Amino acid sequence: MRNKIVAGNWKMNKNSEQTEDLLNELIEKMPIDTEVKVIVAPTFVNLSSAVDHLQFTSIEVAAQNVHQSESGAFTGEISADMLKSVGVGIVILGHSERRAIFHETDALIASKVNTALEHDMTVIFCFGEELKDRQSKNHFNIVENQLRDGLFQIAAKDWNHIVLAYEPVWAIGTGETASPEQVQEMHEFIRETVRKAYGSDIAEDVSILYGGSVKPDNAKEIFSKPDVDGGLIGGAALKVDDFIAIVTAF
Ligand code: 13P
Repeated sequence: MRNKIVAGNWKMNKNSEQTEDLLNELIEKMPIDTEVKVIVAPTFVNLSSAVDHLQFTSIEVAAQNVHQSESGAFTGEISADMLKSVGVGIVILGHSERRAIFHETDALIASKVNTALEHDMTVIFCFGEELKDRQSKNHFNIVENQLRDGLFQIAAKDWNHIVLAYEPVWAIGTGETASPEQVQEMHEFIRETVRKAYGSDIAEDVSILYGGSVKPDNAKEIFSKPDVDGGLIGGAALKVDDFIAIVTAF
């Protein structure tokens, strides 16, 4: 079933105390009757306390990364089993910051996806073109290749553990949002690409989120598009009133 989802990617922001403050404010202000699935992704060190804080709410917790191996000599890394053991069942993979700053390739992202799925985790799979790709009208190719090389190795049965997040790099943290028409055009293309590879049932069921400078004042129009099932929010997720306004924009 296609879900409406608003997920907050907190990136490398908020220490332990600030995380608790943000979560408390979120719990206090979140409308209880919302049909939107709300997810927050604090940093690794605050995941455990976030799970504890949110245990009697419907807000879910995601990690921002996972290592592809089960365990071993990988200094500084975190495994899927570790995430599951603190109650985290969702992970963001393929984010453009991981691709650009930490040199994650499609092949590496594919192996992280496989590991997460083997651990029954849900993957929020991020992808999107850079400005130069859009300017050279290569954006559909780039997106199709990212899907094929990073995700389309998975079995059909695993699609109920996948959420797609289209995040054009030029719109992330820049204040420049893709227009609702650009978002719809790309989301329609993404759904069609999934349809060609896996069939109509899977394509119709998968939730496709948009990410890139989503704010309270543009969320409603973006979310009103037929192939947009929610948002992956960066900066605005760190301000509770803005985040809630985006959730209620549906
Ligand atoms: P901004 O909302 O700050 O543009 O970030 C989007 C993003 O990268 C979410 O993963």
